[in-house]
Amino acid sequence: MPLRPADLARRKQAGLPISVLTAWDALSGALVTEAGADAVLVGDSLAMVVLGHPTTLPVTLDEMLHHCRATARGMASACSSGQEPLLICDLPFLTYQCSADDAVAAAGRVLKETPAAGVKLEGAEPETLAVIDRLVRSGIPVMGHLGLTPQAVHRTGYRRQGNDAASRQRLLRDGRALEEAGCFALVIEHVPADLAGELSRSLSIPVIGIGAGEDCDGQVRVTADLLGLTSRQPPFSPPLIPGRSLAVEALRRWLASQPHPTRPTAPATPHC
Ligand code: KIV
Ligand code: NA
Repeated sequence: MPLRPADLARRKQAGLPISVLTAWDALSGALVTEAGADAVLVGDSLAMVVLGHPTTLPVTLDEMLHHCRATARGMASACSSGQEPLLICDLPFLTYQCSADDAVAAAGRVLKETPAAGVKLEGAEPETLAVIDRLVRSGIPVMGHLGLTPQAVHRTGYRRQGNDAASRQRLLRDGRALEEAGCFALVIEHVPADLAGELSRSLSIPVIGIGAGEDCDGQVRVTADLLGLTSRQPPFSPPLIPGRSLAVEALRRWLASQPHPTRPTAPATPHC
């Protein structure tokens, strides 16, 4: 039985850290499961990491569902024993912003058509809070996402958030509003460490940080960034290994070692 959304809050109450890794296909789903992640996020970062888009905006719900199903198959193949991680899928841009009805239909597809047990969406605008309330009351667990929210790139860029007093106050207020709307956890991205710490202490739901310091209830990372596979590494998420150059070098060596084909030499032309 996989971990459930509510189990993350129990880990926070018990003082246990929460580790979340992204995955996008069967291979990455198996890797992060074998490594022991508590939760696996099929993040819409796959738009950039896997599909080669310049932002997260173009990825469609159908594409997310396709990648989520593949990830789930990889997780199942890797989880012969031990606790299966919780699987969460991002709702892509414009699947929850247009109306609450559309949001229920989109998030409902995630729960009906994949084994994911929850969705993640960005922001805490009044319309978004109303959508979260509706989703949660429909039986769809929701993870929030504040700070740097990549779907708002055209408004905010990829800059650190929460730098001045007004923006700090807004983030603390938004965190409380997301908890009240019924989110089971909250991702906080690229904000000052002390702000993420204050948020973690003041909320009862788990606060999962990325580029937000160590004083959070848990951490989330884009697995391709951790493995050093991506070409544009965010400065707040340094790689653990230089995966890209290791892979390119190994492939180069293999290509260079290929023997030249040996063909039978052409028969000598008989002398007349
Ligand atoms: O899409 C994603 O990978 C994310 C994480 C950075 C939290 O939202
Ligand atoms: Na995302």
